[in-house]
Amino acid sequence: MKPRIGFLGTGWIGRHRMEAMLESAAIEAIGIADPSPEMAQQAAQLAPHAQVVDGLAALLALEPDGIAIATPSALHADQSIAALERGLAVFCQKPLGRTAGEAKAVVEAARTADRLLAVDFSYRYTEGMRRIAELVRGGDLGRLYAADLVFHNAYGPDKPWFYDAAQSGGGCVMDLGVHLVDLALWLFGEDVSEVSSRLYAKGDPLKPGDARVEDYAVAQLTLAGGASVRLACSWRLDAGQDAVIAADFHGTEGGAALRNVNGSFYDFTAEHFRGTAREMLASPPDAWGGRAAVDWAQRLVAGERFDPTAQELVRVAAVLDRIYGR
Ligand SMILES: NC(=O)c1ccc[n+]([C@@H]2O[C@H](COP(=O)([O-])OP(=O)(O)OC[C@H]3O[C@@H](n4cnc5c(N)ncnc54)[C@H](O)[C@@H]3O)[C@@H](O)[C@H]2O)c1
Repeated sequence: MKPRIGFLGTGWIGRHRMEAMLESAAIEAIGIADPSPEMAQQAAQLAPHAQVVDGLAALLALEPDGIAIATPSALHADQSIAALERGLAVFCQKPLGRTAGEAKAVVEAARTADRLLAVDFSYRYTEGMRRIAELVRGGDLGRLYAADLVFHNAYGPDKPWFYDAAQSGGGCVMDLGVHLVDLALWLFGEDVSEVSSRLYAKGDPLKPGDARVEDYAVAQLTLAGGASVRLACSWRLDAGQDAVIAADFHGTEGGAALRNVNGSFYDFTAEHFRGTAREMLASPPDAWGGRAAVDWAQRLVAGERFDPTAQELVRVAAVLDRIYGR
């Protein structure tokens, strides 16, 4: 029987991931909850047999096997814990928590309940990153010693809650930097020993206690083995194009880079560099956006329970804490 899934938060990304899971035919959507009737109705059009209910408690009362959470970021940890404590598997949007403490509490709840917990670190699932990860793991780049990771969204989010720290947990680092930190930790597989960072809001260095969220950030991570990772991310930067997204990795035997194409948020190339030569590893089209969601759904079908690699989610949140100087 297909896992019966409830969808909590069916705004832009919630509906996109729901559609991907439905198209995979791996799951059955049984419930939808979103305080916006318009968003709930749009989701119901994708899944006409799902029941639209009023909030998390009502969604849990339908006794789904799992829940997909795509609500404003500050809600993720508490909602994930509530679902896990009821014995549900959870697929949560990033960030899992606003702090390492929150992320750890969710991972511990998943461990205790022995339920599959995954977070939508969607860029891992681009064909380009998959190929780069293959090169790194196969030793083709030699020993990795540096990475430059960039995510500039020249528009910034269009929903007001992203700019309210109480609802978002932070600005562009919480929204975009989290993907970059995840990619770095995933590929290097090492702990972070040193972190330095600078956060800005409208060009002003952010001071402790400033109520504004950061819209530009740079960070330098030094990993346990000495490798260097430089990160930069922003909202509303004068970037000359919609987005600048790049992940460059440098090893003793070669390099590799994921780059967005013509400012696109969706189209990427991946290349393998050897000296001045380059080889294309991946290019558009690549429908990667829903892959993490479908992967979780398929693992649920396979009966998977708690996955100890969920501990990586706490490590990512801990690096964000250090970037924020907490
Ligand atoms: N993985 C990715 O690459 C990726 C991409 C975009 C967004 N996201 C994440 O997805 C989340 C949602 O982002 P979005 O752009 O879809 O935002 P959105 O504002 O479009 O959607 C959020 C939805 O949650 C609903 N909501 C608010 N409170 C709720 C509650 N208590 N219970 C149920 N629903 C509630 C809102 O009405 C809204 O429809 C964010 O955390 C964001 O960081 C992840």
